[in-house]
Amino acid sequence: MISAAILVLAATGCGSKDVAPSPTPSPSPSFEFPYQDPSLPIDQRVDDLLSHMAAEDKIGQMAQIEEGSLSPDDVSDLWLGSVLHGGGTVGTGTPDEWLSVTAEHQREAVEDTRLGIPIIYGVDAVHGFGALYGGTVFPHQIGLGAANDPDLVERIGRATAEEAAAVGVRWTFSPVLAIPSDIRWGRTYEAYSQDPVIVASLGAAYIRGIQGDDLTDPASVIATAKHFIGDGSTVYGSSTQFIVQQYLLDQGNTPANPALLRDVLLPPYQDAIDAGARTVMVSFSSWDGVKIHGNQALVTDTLREDLGFTGFVVSDWAGCDHINPDDFQDSIARCVNAGVDMVMVPYDAEAFKEALSLSLMGGDVSIDRIDEAVRRILTVKFEMGLFENPYPDPTLLDTIGSAEHRALAREAVAKSLVLLENDGVLPLSDSAQTIAVVGNAADDMGIQAGGWTMSWQGDSGPVIPGTTILEGITERAEAGVTVLDELPDSGMVDVCVAAVGERPYAEGVGDSTDLALPGLSVLDTLEGRCDSTVLVVVSGRPVIITDALGKADAVVAAWLPGTAGEGVADVLFGDVPFTGRLPMNWPRDLSQVPSASSGDEYLYPIGYGLTY
Ligand code: BGC
Ligand code: BGC
Repeated sequence: MISAAILVLAATGCGSKDVAPSPTPSPSPSFEFPYQDPSLPIDQRVDDLLSHMAAEDKIGQMAQIEEGSLSPDDVSDLWLGSVLHGGGTVGTGTPDEWLSVTAEHQREAVEDTRLGIPIIYGVDAVHGFGALYGGTVFPHQIGLGAANDPDLVERIGRATAEEAAAVGVRWTFSPVLAIPSDIRWGRTYEAYSQDPVIVASLGAAYIRGIQGDDLTDPASVIATAKHFIGDGSTVYGSSTQFIVQQYLLDQGNTPANPALLRDVLLPPYQDAIDAGARTVMVSFSSWDGVKIHGNQALVTDTLREDLGFTGFVVSDWAGCDHINPDDFQDSIARCVNAGVDMVMVPYDAEAFKEALSLSLMGGDVSIDRIDEAVRRILTVKFEMGLFENPYPDPTLLDTIGSAEHRALAREAVAKSLVLLENDGVLPLSDSAQTIAVVGNAADDMGIQAGGWTMSWQGDSGPVIPGTTILEGITERAEAGVTVLDELPDSGMVDVCVAAVGERPYAEGVGDSTDLALPGLSVLDTLEGRCDSTVLVVVSGRPVIITDALGKADAVVAAWLPGTAGEGVADVLFGDVPFTGRLPMNWPRDLSQVPSASSGDEYLYPIGYGLTY
């Protein structure tokens, strides 16, 4: 259905026809329009394409809609610029299902519209493409921050791009460039480190990897530097959001702090932009009480003019709506005027088109601003070669969960583990004849993978195929060694490995009041039953373990390692040395959160890590 506002818009000719036409280049004879001719420079192709678009078509290009909210012909009827899948998956998430969904929408855009402008399909491939069943799930960013190996992160970016592009996904909403100042934040694991130098270097490495050398390569996926800006600096208790639970930090407020902005938060964005990031996502949070989505000084003046960003800006999920919760049209107008080029609507495409059309007619948003936004979006689509190659390259399907990618994940896991304590029990010696691997994270792929795995929040249990910590240890143990998945009824065990983890969570649902790890109580059941005990902490952030230290002979931080549990065995057995270093301060107790007072030492400071 075409709305009244859009009909008026079309009838009054309000739109591109008001804009001075650019000199029309001649297409080569085989093309009807110059924009279709790949031999012409991109800015000429964009000018030509814009000249054929009415305002309503342009507004459609500015909309990104989540797949579950689309009816069959929406992409073509509404000229949508992009389709996304949020944290969840399509059906059971197999490559075939993904392929058929992305291809169906692309076909509509390319074949069923007058100008055939392809969509870009976007997902949160934040630790590999975690919603692709059978794909390779790498450690979440906090683990990669512990590894602090830019070359490794670049290779992970490349592998992730291949698996996503294989099923028609050419846009990922990653990397996260947050600097978490308060680890109670539920998104702490999505960040690399509290050290902005590490965040900047790994963020840029990931962007180089995921986008590749050539955006027209069918295995190139555009990156999103997110969430601009201050997502990890909000004050505890400042969030008003409620989804599943009252958020505490996520989507909250960062008090104005020019030095923090200049010296800590912006440098990773500068490096991301210099690495060629094609999109930036705006943060849900506020800066000095003003929603960033409506903050032109930050989203345009700082990002575009100071940092020199040339790609397009995307909102977060219904992020514009928060600007003025009582007035959707006003929210959208202010968001677009602040500098958001594409709006992750994400549900009601028609309401969005209606709202922006009314603002255009009423003069609250200018056609110049709309042209600017659409120009940026189309430029990236041309840069990606989508007009020439809108569909995936089928040969990429073999890369999904390939042996090569699994080996890379294993390398990443081994490099990401941090050895916190060791009285000599590690590396596990060949003389250990019985090893019991217990705890809630011992044999649980879902806990090991964390949030953003098949679903937004993730889940415990066998949500994806992979190797659990127990399976990795079992595979590695020498012949003759007995690996148990529980304590025997009686007698001593040579070594007990207690893998204890947080239940999966995402975003503000994971905001924590106490950083507790309830599963640690398993250590009490091991007392007097094990010659040695190794505690493996599976978590998205440092958690409070101080009281448990006396119950273990070695302690390892494993973060959220993903599918390659064999990488945990590699370091426990000493086949690979521990090289990971803490990417964040590890507090002794809650008095050291968000930060310890001067002179009060952390349990383990950032940069800490033992080796052998
Ligand atoms: C998150 C973003 C994510 C988007 C799409 C939002 O809720 O804040 O990080 O990219 O959803 O799933
Ligand atoms: C989506 C997320 C989004 C969240 C917000 C989920 O269904 O997958 O991406 O952030 O909804 O409510």
